[in-house]
Order: sequence, then C-alpha cells, then structure tokens
Amino acid sequence: MSLFGTLAITIFNVPVSMWVPLNYSEPANKSAAIALIRVPAAVDPNSSAYRGPVLFNHGGPGGSGVNLILRKGKDFATILGPQFDIVGFDPRGITRSTPRISFFESSTERELWDYRTLQELSQTSGPTTIAEKLSRSQLRNILAKERARDILPFMNTDNTARDMLTITEAHGFSKLKYWGFSYGSILGSTFAAMFPDKVERLTIDGVADAEDYYETGWRTSLRDTSKTLQVFFNTCFSIGPSKCAFYDDNGPSEANLSIYTLLSPPKKPFPVLTAPLYGLVDYNRLQVTIFTSLYSPYALRPSLG
Ligand SMILES: *[C@@H]1O[C@H](CO)[C@@H](O)[C@H](O)[C@H]1NC(C)=O
Ligand SMILES: *[C@@H]1O[C@H](CO)[C@@H](O)[C@H](O)[C@H]1NC(C)=O
Ligand SMILES: *[C@@H]1O[C@H](CO)[C@@H](O)[C@H](O)[C@H]1NC(C)=O
Ligand SMILES: *[C@@H]1O[C@H](CO)[C@@H](O)[C@H](O)[C@H]1NC(C)=O
Repeated sequence: MSLFGTLAITIFNVPVSMWVPLNYSEPANKSAAIALIRVPAAVDPNSSAYRGPVLFNHGGPGGSGVNLILRKGKDFATILGPQFDIVGFDPRGITRSTPRISFFESSTERELWDYRTLQELSQTSGPTTIAEKLSRSQLRNILAKERARDILPFMNTDNTARDMLTITEAHGFSKLKYWGFSYGSILGSTFAAMFPDKVERLTIDGVADAEDYYETGWRTSLRDTSKTLQVFFNTCFSIGPSKCAFYDDNGPSEANLSIYTLLSPPKKPFPVLTAPLYGLVDYNRLQVTIFTSLYSPYALRPSLG
C-alpha cells in the first residue's frame, strides 16, 4: 500500500505520490494517488531527537498542501523546530492528486468560467448579484454531477482524514501531528472525532465552524468580518498619516468613511494603469479587495493602506 517503506528517508524537493484506497471499505479495489512533499527534519531521523511528520492543511477545501509547503515549508520548520518533517499533501482529488476533480474540460473553459464570475460581480451590487451567484453555483453543481460523478463520492473530509492516518503510519508513526488552518480546522477536528486515540498533537488555527460547515449553511463565517476591518481602521489611526493613506485626524471611523465614499456616489468604475497591469476599479472590486485582505492582517496594509 505504501511507498514510504523505501521513501521514508528520501529528501523530497519534488512532490511524490502515495497510494491510498479510493474507498477504505474496499481497500483491494481502486486506488487514489496522494501527492506529497516534505521539508525533512534537520535532525538525523535515526536519532532519538527525531519526532516524525507534521501534516498541514491550509483550507479551502480544495487548497493544495504541496503548494503551501513549497511556499511556507521552511517557515513552518523554523517555527516548529528541527525534529519534525514538515509534510504537505494535496488532498484526494485536488491539484496533483489523482483521480483529479475537474468540472471543466480544458483550462480555457475554466478561465472563461472565472472571467464570467468577475464580470457578473462588476455588473451590479445587491440582490441581483446574489441571485446570479446562486444560479452560477447551481450551474456548477450540475457540471459537477455530470462530469465528476464517478469520483466525487470518495472525495470527502472523512476519507481525507483516513489519508492523513495512512501518511502518518507510512512514516512509521501511529499518531497524527497536524496543523490546519480554516477548513483545515474542520479536517483536524474531524480526524480527532474519528480517531481520538490516534492524535499526538493537533493544532487548529483560524478556526471555522464545523457544524455550520457540515450543515452546508456557511452562515457564521462572516460574523466577525467588520470587527476585523475595525482593527485596520484603529491601526491606521494609531500609526498616523505617513504610514496609512486613510488616516484622518478625526479618528478611526473617518478611515471607514473615506474608503466607502471613495467610489460612491455614483459608484462609477474608474480606469487604473500600473504597468504592467491595468483594469477597472469599481465599488465591487474594492469590496472584494477589502474582504480578501482581511484573511491576513499583514496583507491589509500593503493592499489597503
Ligand atoms: C470494486 O468497485 C466496483 C465499482 O467501481 C464494484 O463494481 C466492485 O464490486 C468492487 N470490487 C470489490 C472487490 O469490492
Ligand atoms: C538509519 O537507519 C537505517 C536502518 O538502520 C539505515 O539504513 C540508514 O542508513 C540510517 N540513516 C541515517 C541517515 O543514518
Ligand atoms: C465503499 O465501499 C462500501 C463497502 O463495499 C460501500 O458500501 C460504499 O457504498 C462504498 N462507498 C462509495 C462512495 O461508493
Ligand atoms: C463602516 O461604515 C459603514 C457605513 O456607515 C458601516 O455600515 C460599517 O459598519 C462601518 N464599518 C466598520 C468596521 O466600522
């Protein structure tokens, strides 16, 4: 089942793949391949200091764990210490793992889909946009059903949790060490619920509401968004005009006012050219930019300030 018998000591600087059962109840039947990458422990893996793999998931669902470790693996190793392997994996169905979920038959088709999303977002704000978004989601669901019907039933959080146990065991360890962000917090808590005696250390970070997620409500994920934005306004006021373009003597709420009145009325888009990029900035684009920058406090200042 596992390729790790021979690969365990290899330094991975390119992704490798590992076989897992597509259906854990039928392990002899079809397989899936999970793409993995690793920043190996700096200590000798034969020494008593070696503590084995720490697995990562940074959310989505659908984010590539291999890309995460390619980008941040060295930082995680610095934070956690030399005794751990830092292991990223593309969850089953995602990016380099196969069979791969795709609702689109070519990358052009995918790009056209994404482009239309942007167009529709720019047309209007308010209920029409929401109605369009809902219809597009329904359309994507139909595509999924038509085009990925055979594999989608196997691509879920509990199978991904089982894969994490397989990866851990393939390293010669029986208990999971894990650090998950956002949806990764749901994956981590699902693992803990399924395998409570197989957890060594588990960190859930940027915690998402697992019950809301499994109910497919997604009702609670925006609850504190305005509070997070308020932190930006407060910080803008405390660091002063030389460091924050939205600073105003009259206090933090003025920054809010200037951001929201920037493009309204009459909410007309205006052209922006900052070689080599160019495009139209409008109220929706501004809102999306603000919203996505709230994911990370460090991202706020360069994009907003
Ligand atoms: C393997 O899966 C197929 C469906 O993909 C099923 O028809 C078959 O019965 C399964 N075989 C075993 C041994 O479980
Ligand atoms: C670790 O131990 C194994 C088996 O005893 C050996 O084959 C391997 O070369 C050792 N690795 C290192 C880095 O010393
Ligand atoms: C996995 O295998 C079990 C046992 O054969 C079967 O009951 C179940 O439906 C299969 N899961 C999927 C998603 O096909
Ligand atoms: C910013 O101003 C808008 C409009 O007055 C208000 O609805 C919103 O709550 C304010 N945001 C924050 C974070 O204070």
